[in-house]
Amino acid sequence: MCSLLSFQSLHLLVSLLFSLLFLTSADLGTASSYGPPYLPTACHGADQGQFPPDDLFAAAGDAIWDNGASCGRQYLVRCLSSATPGACIAGQRVQVTIVDHATTLNSMPSKNSTTLVLANRAFANIAKLSAACINIEFTQV
Ligand SMILES: *[C@@H]1O[C@H](CO)[C@@H](O)[C@H](O)[C@H]1NC(C)=O
Repeated sequence: MCSLLSFQSLHLLVSLLFSLLFLTSADLGTASSYGPPYLPTACHGADQGQFPPDDLFAAAGDAIWDNGASCGRQYLVRCLSSATPGACIAGQRVQVTIVDHATTLNSMPSKNSTTLVLANRAFANIAKLSAACINIEFTQV
């Protein structure tokens, strides 16, 4: 389903292309989505003012949670592929701020154990919300 195993060669190709084009290395992972209630969060509790003005935020999965040090980090995320046909919106990227921990969300993510859980609004910028899980490329900004 959301396994990266079958995308190894794509990973290599994409990593190579991006290294050549932007001299930066992106990571591969998976992303699901989640909706309200968004409060309270593991990063800033019930503070209503913690969300970025554009409402593009996400929860960090255990792989990048970093014991809470990931709070406030920003990631540029791109949809690479999905088990749901046509899920990725071509050429789109979204920049999200980490505000929560994926394992302690107040609402259920569309899939458990993903690298990132994107708030619906952020997810919808790069993929169809009907896809429970997408394979992503992400870079810390
Ligand atoms: C995620 O895990 C929770 C708790 O184990 C479970 O209740 C829920 O059904 C899981 N969600 C999905 C989409 O598999």
